Amino acid sequence: MCGIVGCIGKKDVVCNVLSGLETIEYRGYDSAGIVCRDENTQALVWVKACGDLVALKEALVEKPLHAPIALGHTRWATHGGVTVENTHPHFDCHHTIALVHNGIIENYRALRADLESRGHVFRSQTDTEAVAHVLEEKLKTTASPKEALLATVKELEGSFALAILLRDLDDTLLFVRNRSPLCVGLGEDSASVVSDMLSLDQSIQQYAILPDQTIGIVRANFCEVYNFDGSPCELVYQPFTWLGQLKNKKNYEHYMLKEIHEQKQVIIDVVKYVRTLGNNWYSAIGLQKEEIQKLESIFGVACGTSYHAACMAHQYMRSIAHIHSYAERASEFLYQPEMPLKNCLYYVLSQSGETADTLETLRMLKKSGQKVLGIINVPTSSMARESTGILHMNAGLEVAVASTKSFTVQVVLLYWLAYKIAQEKGLVDSFAVEQAENDLLVCAQLLDGMIDKYQATIDERATYYASFSKYIFLGRQESFPFAQEAALKLKEIAYIFVEAYQAGELKHGPLALVDKNMPVVVFSSLDPIIYRKLLSNVQEVKARGGIVIAFAFEGQNELIAVASESFVFPVVAVHLGPLVMVSLMQYWVYRIALSLGRSIDKPRNLAKSVTVE
Ligand code: G6P
Repeated sequence: MCGIVGCIGKKDVVCNVLSGLETIEYRGYDSAGIVCRDENTQALVWVKACGDLVALKEALVEKPLHAPIALGHTRWATHGGVTVENTHPHFDCHHTIALVHNGIIENYRALRADLESRGHVFRSQTDTEAVAHVLEEKLKTTASPKEALLATVKELEGSFALAILLRDLDDTLLFVRNRSPLCVGLGEDSASVVSDMLSLDQSIQQYAILPDQTIGIVRANFCEVYNFDGSPCELVYQPFTWLGQLKNKKNYEHYMLKEIHEQKQVIIDVVKYVRTLGNNWYSAIGLQKEEIQKLESIFGVACGTSYHAACMAHQYMRSIAHIHSYAERASEFLYQPEMPLKNCLYYVLSQSGETADTLETLRMLKKSGQKVLGIINVPTSSMARESTGILHMNAGLEVAVASTKSFTVQVVLLYWLAYKIAQEKGLVDSFAVEQAENDLLVCAQLLDGMIDKYQATIDERATYYASFSKYIFLGRQESFPFAQEAALKLKEIAYIFVEAYQAGELKHGPLALVDKNMPVVVFSSLDPIIYRKLLSNVQEVKARGGIVIAFAFEGQNELIAVASESFVFPVVAVHLGPLVMVSLMQYWVYRIALSLGRSIDKPRNLAKSVTVE
């Protein structure tokens, strides 16, 4: 997790480090720090602050830093609370080494005990600080910083991207990369080491993603890289064009609101993208035509919101492509016994392409000989590079921690994929695929209208919705994972407890919870049989005095009548009900969180890209 930005330039680069950190603050915003060398005393000087970057900026007004080489970090706490002491950079005993870290040093306890027994004094509770003290020893016992780094990594277990500034080494940054991503950028008189290329600055002309298990030395327009065995490693550089300030809230109050409204366009864009794939779609997903025809199952692995999209796909694959479908959370999948399925397409879903559990799953599957399709938003991410096939989400930058447009695009791509597999299997013809694509475009056109229709009501009633401390959300078939996604949104940004349930299961326990203090939100289905079943479940709630809020479709009059209040949506293709509801559901949650005064784009305790397992 966390974000790293190290910059080298001719003049002051502290502002470059700050704006680099701003671009990747989504990786963590518990606290942040910057270190550089004082040009007069040559001592390392730093500023750290708890909270987001606004706090660090304020601290920098009190204690300004200026230097041609600087290192910064934005933290999502894993080891040790959110305190200034635990904020990166961390130092050795004598403040000669400043180090920032993404990942987890798994053996830090043993390292720390050993180092303390030899007199090292620790100032924080972090796993990271142990590395600074190990390096302190290695610098004394080896001939060069390179040798010291190589000796240090031998002592470390876990995942670690490290950027290091030494007091006594002019103009130079050091780095280590093991499992956590890191990238280097070079300009005419400058260089950067960053955990995400989004934070490279305008001076950079070319960049390279650092290969795994490497260490290196960076100076202006210079980078030397070595594998962990000490052999030299060649980097593959790509030209870098600064795209300007990608983060732009336009006139919206929050990124989340902007991203909710972008969903119409991203659906249009992604449908355009799949249409341009034509017959290249086989190679895009990394399978031969015959392999697709033989597919018996499909297995999606993901985390958070992306996992819910995989659960929606589970319904699509079974009902449209008639193949078995499985969806699993990456953190669980990783530790199950390996039971590879024959004729199965494994896929990983991820907005960031860096989520550690999902990335490790991808690597594990590849190691066991599987091809793995990645459905990824960030094209330069680790997963996008390492998947054997890729469908690009084309959703553009998503800034708000709570994922909105990424979910929608993932659902669109998986719905389309179900149709393409069905076509290869002779279940549907090319007209049906085209119709499916058009059905997706119909949903896109309806999204904003649904917000327009209900905005005033929701705005007016937001405090009422927010007055409940718990909710139950119900769905059946594809509306169940959609209910789960809605529940995740409400938990993430409003901090309200929600249990999402398959409506048919309610009577097996959770019905006991129903009373007038816990509204039941039901997400309806366009399938007439499922709708009737759902209606019975809602009647059970009503009979027990429950408050029912329905997301229903036009013509579902019985549901609308039984509900205390309803949001009514136009009828679309049978499995696409959630897609026409998605923007309004997100807006409803957004308004509840807003009326509670929550931090919408950066909810407490969370981060957008979770790069630790
Ligand atoms: C974090 C975010 C979630 C996101 C999940 C998976 O937990 O807070 O919003 O859904 O990671 O992210 P990914 O980038 O893999 O889709």
